[in-house]
Amino acid sequence: MNAAVRFIVRSAEAMGIKVKGVMRGYNGLIENHFVDLDIRSVSDIIQRGGTALYTARCPKFKTEEGINEAIKNCKESGIEGLIVIGGDGSFRGARDLSLHGIPCVGIPATIDNDISSTDYTIGFDTAMNTVVELVDKLRDTACSHDRCSVVEVMGHGAGDLALQCGLAVGATSVIVPEKTYDPEAVITKIRETQKRGRNHFIIVVSEGLCDVRELAKQIEESTCIESRATILGHIQRGGSPTLRDRVVASKMGYAAVELLKNGIGNRVIALKNCEIVNYDIFEALNMPKTFDEETYLLANMILS
Ligand code: F6P
Repeated sequence: MNAAVRFIVRSAEAMGIKVKGVMRGYNGLIENHFVDLDIRSVSDIIQRGGTALYTARCPKFKTEEGINEAIKNCKESGIEGLIVIGGDGSFRGARDLSLHGIPCVGIPATIDNDISSTDYTIGFDTAMNTVVELVDKLRDTACSHDRCSVVEVMGHGAGDLALQCGLAVGATSVIVPEKTYDPEAVITKIRETQKRGRNHFIIVVSEGLCDVRELAKQIEESTCIESRATILGHIQRGGSPTLRDRVVASKMGYAAVELLKNGIGNRVIALKNCEIVNYDIFEALNMPKTFDEETYLLANMILS
């Protein structure tokens, strides 16, 4: 997200547009918490995780009173357009502001990659690489001790992170919310794999599907393979962004500034078939989320 902010500020300045940063998401709009941003103030943030503008949920923004306050503050501060970096919830806020006369452009950012209008969300690549690095470390123990390691990754109801990482770490099974949870199928796969001479196993599970400790216990009781559960948690959301995240964020930031410069609002930026495009926010919010069946099949079918 910092890479996007940096590029927004620098490209806007090059186009003669002044930029203010809104602190702590929609809270900053309601509380009139803006900071002037210029080329120098976004120096040295491209390599940082998190967000230099901070972020927070803002229940008040969902009320008529909250949105009216936000609009009043935008108008009084001379804000003529807004770039909103976040997920579907943030886009719904951007849609409401656009409806009230503040042109907004959304940039998709979440480690979950769960925004239907785009193939890619900022943060996804960094999170995937973090997960791969951590599971590779877990594999050392699983391998040395002939164990099964059950690893829970984030996803917020979308299996993308689990799926990509499961394939990349060579998991025996990948469990995602888009498919029916069947612990017996996982145990059968482990048994089959064991018969082929394998003695350590990695199972990747998307959060919220089951209690991973319970699944590890079930695997151990059914197969006599010592099993351990690990919940990776918020460590997946931190760290210096990867090259891909920095580049995509910069391109999306530039595209958002271009739209606003041309007086175009109520749009969201997306990456589609490797190209930066944009859609109407209403249209984007109503697009169905597709599931990568091919990767699911590859991740779960391969013999190990
Ligand atoms: O949306 C990003 C995400 O990290 C999800 O993967 C996860 O379910 C959620 O946020 C965690 O939210 P919180 O930090 O509020 O616990």
